[in-house]
Amino acid sequence: MRVVLVGAPGAGKGTQAKYIAAHYNIPPISTGDIFRANIAERTQLGKAAKRYMDVGELVPDEVTIGIVRDRIVKDDAVHGFLLDGFPRTVAQAEALGQMLAELGTGLDVVLELQVDDEEVIRRLSGRRTCRSCGHVWHVEFDPPAIEGVCDQCGGALFQRDDDLPETIRRRFEVYFEQTEPLIGYYTDKNLLRSITADGSVEQITERAIDALELSTPS
Ligand code: AP5
Repeated sequence: MRVVLVGAPGAGKGTQAKYIAAHYNIPPISTGDIFRANIAERTQLGKAAKRYMDVGELVPDEVTIGIVRDRIVKDDAVHGFLLDGFPRTVAQAEALGQMLAELGTGLDVVLELQVDDEEVIRRLSGRRTCRSCGHVWHVEFDPPAIEGVCDQCGGALFQRDDDLPETIRRRFEVYFEQTEPLIGYYTDKNLLRSITADGSVEQITERAIDALELSTPS
């Protein structure tokens, strides 16, 4: 199965990607995570991406498309993948369509997570990430037992630079200007399915899997 997850910053894409991908035994591929790993390793790509991410802008298409092109041909993605955070512009969507056509395949479904603005702001401002294992916590909705310490590995938790209020505002503007047009783009291709992404993480995973089951051949 080849799935794209789309939704506003903080809609819960990364959280859901893990569970949905595990259910279908496909790799979750997050362009945001790939950039953050490169920033942590201080690679050239990381340095280039950081300039854009820190101010809430998109990394240029030519950089991002190349990364996805290389990633989806890896062995673990040959039979399917779940893309989280890509595509984010119509140009990226067109490039993805072209890449998949060259591989003789196509997308099965684009799943949109819909959450109201107030909820996503609460989710983003309380998000904390483990510096060692990358696990994502929330200070209110999913707190670790000891504040600032990861329950899974004991690593230190940090707040993403782009989760500061000023940058969150810009990420939303960018989402509405550049990413929301994908909703119409994929509706026209009859690939879009939307679910409400409020409630518990487990409830949303169940809703997502129900929507995917209805959208894909068994
Ligand atoms: P990216 O990492 O993709 O960020 P995003 O799309 O803004 O999404 P987030 O990671 O902020 O949120 P999410 O929806 O994954 O929510 P999460 O599950 O963490 O991209 C970051 C940057 O990289 C971009 O701004 C851009 O610069 C660059 N970039 C990436 N891809 C690019 C591309 N294709 N092109 C160009 N540039 C690109 O959840 C948020 C919080 O809520 C967590 O704390 C979680 O625990 C909590 N939570 C989740 N679900 C629930 C729930 N049901 N109830 C309560 N709390 C919940």
